[in-house]
Amino acid sequence: MRRVQVCIIGAGPAGLLLGHLLRAEGVDCLVLDRQSPDYILGRIRAGVLETITVSLMERLGLDARLKAEGLWHDGFQLADGERLIRIDLADLTGSRVMVYGQTELTRDLMQAAEERGLEIEYGAREVALHGMEGDAPHVTWTDANGAQQRVDCRFIVGCDGFHGPSRKAIPANAGKGFERVYPFGWLGILADVPPCHHELIYASHERGFALASMRSETRSRYYIDVPAGEDVANWPDDRVWDELALRLGPEAAAGIARGPSIEKSIAPLRSFVFEPMRYGSLLLCGDAAHIVPPTGAKGLNLAASDVHYAAEALTAFFLRNCDDAVAAYSQKALSRVWKAERFSWSLTRLMHRDPSGGPFERRMQLAELDYIASSRAAQTAIAENYVGLPV
Ligand code: APR
Ligand code: PHB
Repeated sequence: MRRVQVCIIGAGPAGLLLGHLLRAEGVDCLVLDRQSPDYILGRIRAGVLETITVSLMERLGLDARLKAEGLWHDGFQLADGERLIRIDLADLTGSRVMVYGQTELTRDLMQAAEERGLEIEYGAREVALHGMEGDAPHVTWTDANGAQQRVDCRFIVGCDGFHGPSRKAIPANAGKGFERVYPFGWLGILADVPPCHHELIYASHERGFALASMRSETRSRYYIDVPAGEDVANWPDDRVWDELALRLGPEAAAGIARGPSIEKSIAPLRSFVFEPMRYGSLLLCGDAAHIVPPTGAKGLNLAASDVHYAAEALTAFFLRNCDDAVAAYSQKALSRVWKAERFSWSLTRLMHRDPSGGPFERRMQLAELDYIASSRAAQTAIAENYVGLPV
């Protein structure tokens, strides 16, 4: 019979980061994912890292490529259709963010797994969790060759995203989900053209939201909001570029270099939190427990702070025989989760045109942007949330 101390379900950024942190402390773990490495690395996700995320990679000694290729950003811009309003992160908070694709961070973690002795099994189908109520849970699955597998462990950590089996294994009367689904999605394009501006621009325009982001000095990532359920086939590249130029405003539009999209997709926007984040011997981390709309780029960074708390708790349990931190995990993680949810929700509300909102709501958005432009206090509140609240 196979046995590990911790079985992690999901080899996205949350599962891989946690696996590395536990291995570095000598905790024995197995990571299971139903997909292949290529599939996981094919998912394009946000690209802004908070200090907590960068420092976890530093602690693991896996920060070489991130430091060489990532771009430090001291600020970002809000736009109201006409002007740019700079949020000077460095001056307002003494901190900054790093622009580095989440896919690249996942690749760095994946590639280091073998040399660090982190075992990952890909292609694991029908993963099922058992016995989390007690202290001897186990996980079963069908491996890539069709054979039935089982591992016994002391803890299971669900890092299997919003649709994974971990959260769903918690009995209905033992938890509660809080959800808000937005009536729009983000259409994103990736193109090998220089960014239109050296900092990110989040624009709130009469016609809707737009975001100018980047992956490097020669690769741009742009988004516009579109009605929920929109078909990407309705958005040939030229239509996207035209819309971006209008929504980002004249100054940014002047800097846009157009080029063929190398990826184009639409993602729905959702806010979701599940409480509690622990059920017996099962801990939830990342998207398995909560989803934020991408406005503010908190998804990966929240996964990183969950993983930081979970690694601390599990290390205390196995190395010091202390279970207080495991008992406190859910409360500690949720306190940071709800604040990031609040920030992502409020930035989403400020920057998007809700189809049910009328001219009054638009004036409220413009008044808030105008207030932000004139108030250091308002800018500080945005900046300290954007760089990430203390862990
Ligand atoms: N069995 C095994 N693995 C599963 C199953 C399953 N039934 N369902 C999902 N998974 C795996 C997925 O294949 C994926 O690799 O769980 C992993 C979850 O990874 P992410 O969705 O990336 O979630 P997480 O690691 O929490 O990432 C948090 O990064 O990916 C973004 O949008 C995400 O920004 C958020 C942050
Ligand atoms: C991205 O570059 O993909 C990105 C950046 C910032 C966000 C969301 C996505 O808020």
